[in-house]
Amino acid sequence: MNILILAAGTRNKIVQYFKRTFDGIGNVVATDASTLGPAIYDADKYYIVPPINGPGYIERIIDICKKEEISGVLSLIDPELSLLATNEDKFKAVGTTVVGSSYELCEMALDKMQMYKWLKEHGYNCARSWMEKDAFYKAVDEGIVTYPVFVKPYRGSASISISKVYDRETIDVLFAHEDDLMIQELLKGQEIGADVYIDMITGEVVSIFTKKKIKMRAGETDKSVSFKDPELFALIEEFVLEAGYRGQIDIDIFEINGQYYISEVNPRFGGGYPHAYESGCDHMQLILNNLNGVVNHKNIAAYDEGIYMMKYNEVKIIRGGGTVID
Ligand SMILES: Nc1ncnc2c1ncn2[C@@H]1O[C@H](COP(=O)(O)OP(=O)(O)O)[C@@H](O)[C@H]1O
Ligand SMILES: [Mg+2]
Repeated sequence: MNILILAAGTRNKIVQYFKRTFDGIGNVVATDASTLGPAIYDADKYYIVPPINGPGYIERIIDICKKEEISGVLSLIDPELSLLATNEDKFKAVGTTVVGSSYELCEMALDKMQMYKWLKEHGYNCARSWMEKDAFYKAVDEGIVTYPVFVKPYRGSASISISKVYDRETIDVLFAHEDDLMIQELLKGQEIGADVYIDMITGEVVSIFTKKKIKMRAGETDKSVSFKDPELFALIEEFVLEAGYRGQIDIDIFEINGQYYISEVNPRFGGGYPHAYESGCDHMQLILNNLNGVVNHKNIAAYDEGIYMMKYNEVKIIRGGGTVID
């Protein structure tokens, strides 16, 4: 029973947690496009692979799965999730399960406008959004939305090019300089992160960890504290089941005057997952169980409230550039 982690990058903790869970059971194999991706050095074995959009990429990953007898494969970066979902059958053919959600859900996660439309159609609280600035101005005139608003690229990530905007002039300037922007109602409240595991055999939501974000840095949660609210767990469960996610997901939520608003979903291990794991939500074990054909049972809120996470920097030192296994 071996697992393959793609695009391991700087996610050393994720690799270390898998190593702990797979200790004595199998290998944790990692890939990166660079020999200077520190997380690969925490794996049992690693491969340097072409960029995900390069020629022959997926064939290369499937070769690794065959050679290393990989049971489960997952990626830690958004653009690769759809690629894995599309090639699910090719992985199946070599005995590898893709630990992830469907192609449609991975695509929806990349497109904030599509996500908004889905949430609205299904009756979930979410920030009203516009792609057309004229439609937005009309909504301002009609009193549907007021400044300040939030402007961001509709396929953005890592909080790049996000801005809080106070007037029409600024919207005009931003839209003149950048394509593919969207305007969103400003959500003003407590930001929350949820780390959720959906059993890959039954589709049931089996684990939820929720944290209040205390401080964000470069689009990531830097400090957070665990909390529990049965109402929020119920909302997450309803949303996740209705959409049909599978495996590990990360959800951004806002709490505004006692109401929860769903902001976005990353159908993978989020950057703040170590908080969940260190608080007792071991989703690596849930993945291992599923890969063994074992169903996980519902164990929601299996952690204490008031556990704080503070991120800090680490360094990895290697000599001679490492040995690339091929
Ligand atoms: N409508 C909004 N109102 C207030 N803050 C927002 C809004 N949308 C996004 N943000 C803030 O910007 C961050 C990044 O936006 P997000 O939509 O999560 O995109 P991504 O994480 O893909 O860059 C969020 O974590 C949140 O802090
Ligand atoms: Mg986000």
